[in-house]
Amino acid sequence: MSVKQLEDSVIISLPDNPDTYIKVLRYGAHILSWKINGEEQLWLSAGAKLDGSAAVRGGIPLAFPVFGGSAAEGFNKLPHHGFARISTWDFLGLTSSNPPIAQFALTPDEAEPVSYGKWENGDNNFRAFVNYELGADYLTTSVAIENIDTKPFDFHWLFHTYLRTPDIEDTLVTNLPGEVCYDQVVKEEYEDKAPAVQFHQETDRVYKKVDESKDIQVVYCGKANHTLKRVNLPDVVVWNPWIEKSKNIGDFAPKDDYKHMVCVEPGYASEFVTLKPQGVWKASQTLTYGKDIKIQAV
Ligand code: BG6
Repeated sequence: MSVKQLEDSVIISLPDNPDTYIKVLRYGAHILSWKINGEEQLWLSAGAKLDGSAAVRGGIPLAFPVFGGSAAEGFNKLPHHGFARISTWDFLGLTSSNPPIAQFALTPDEAEPVSYGKWENGDNNFRAFVNYELGADYLTTSVAIENIDTKPFDFHWLFHTYLRTPDIEDTLVTNLPGEVCYDQVVKEEYEDKAPAVQFHQETDRVYKKVDESKDIQVVYCGKANHTLKRVNLPDVVVWNPWIEKSKNIGDFAPKDDYKHMVCVEPGYASEFVTLKPQGVWKASQTLTYGKDIKIQAV
């Protein structure tokens, strides 16, 4: 059996290798852990609340229907990153056993009611499905949003992936030079001309409309530990809170663990998707472990 159901979570492993698995909390359909041959790939805060009382700090939070906070009408009262990560999703089972693909669903019935009521008119009828496919050296997280309403609705989507890295100061995020980003630290938009993103201070950038042919790589000491491929997720957020911000995030622990994480977050986040009645919107990210370095910078 490659699926084990616990009270609050599900563990999906490779049929032939129990040491390669993901653990998914039903609250948020949140991937808490992704191990390859026993080695953890994701960062999870030691202070993360796993009891459904708050969004989980670490792993792969799902941001929907808003990325961050938006001033746009119909979105400005939503909690930060929306309600998907603070709602308990249904586990629908495996849609394939080898490779295992686990499916979770969210509708207005499961959505956290107070926040759901703050999205546009508070009555958008939708279905969201996420599929998590596990391979020997990769994880694909995909999403399908269905509009089953009689009116269009708007949303953002983002996979807020917290990757584990041995030392942030020896970590680079590549293939973003020449891309335009909105820098949320200095609140300015500019073209990033650095040969790679390096981390020596708080970094919080939304790279906009990055061509899908560009693979984003997290390189540690000259080795591409993780390679990110995106489908229909044009924006890429790169975030590390560094010293001061970590201190101010209550559930970030230990406080110096900003040294061991980097968020690389593909999303549809700088503009809204508008989905018509009967429309279906799909997107995915694939994270592969240990690929060769591929330079695609301009
Ligand atoms: C990132 C944002 O996606 O998420 C940051 O770019 C934000 O600005 C971070 O601080 C964490 O957000 P939250 O709501 O999980 O604390």
